[in-house]
Amino acid sequence: MNMSAMAALAPVIPVLTIKRLTDAVPLARALVRGGLPVLEITLRTGPALEALQAITGEVEGAVVGAGTVLTGAQFDQVKRAGARFAVSPGCMPSLALAASASGLPFLPGVQTVSEAMELAERGFNLLKFFPAGAAGGLAWLKAVAAPLPEVRFCPTGGVGADTASAYLALANVACVGGSWVAPAEAVAGQDWTRIERLAAAAARLKRP
Ligand code: 3PG
Repeated sequence: MNMSAMAALAPVIPVLTIKRLTDAVPLARALVRGGLPVLEITLRTGPALEALQAITGEVEGAVVGAGTVLTGAQFDQVKRAGARFAVSPGCMPSLALAASASGLPFLPGVQTVSEAMELAERGFNLLKFFPAGAAGGLAWLKAVAAPLPEVRFCPTGGVGADTASAYLALANVACVGGSWVAPAEAVAGQDWTRIERLAAAAARLKRP
């Protein structure tokens, strides 16, 4: 499955920063039950890779990727752990080359039109717009739709339950990413019912 096909599976990609390995599987199960099967595990915590591996092995229906990929070497590392895709907050040429060499579907981060043009030239037509809220939000996405007709985006960073549907209404938005469906305090309190409810509400959001 390529990146666009994975993005089409659900309107929201939960961005998960997992601090306790034991949370990984029940957290992922709650999100998948709620209707969000595509999960991004950020590589920002000690247990991130093991969490990715555990979810991949144990949670039926989950499509798990690695987020916060910053170096080329991480592509092989996350692929070995079972990642189906990788996400980065920004992208330099060496990272794009490593992604292509690894064969792993990749959602590279961009913040400018030039970055989007360069990645489109390299064949990446679905890009993470990050940090969406701080970098221009809805107005930026609307403004680039005409000059970049081939490019679609997954805005992430500052997107929440209140703004997600406005992003998803844009024709150049394939899906959105965000941590709001798995609030840190709900994960800390192992409130999987609340997380499933938040996921179900996010899964009902409509795309054009
Ligand atoms: C991140 O990398 O943390 C994501 O962009 C999530 O951002 P959010 O917490 O604002 O949803």
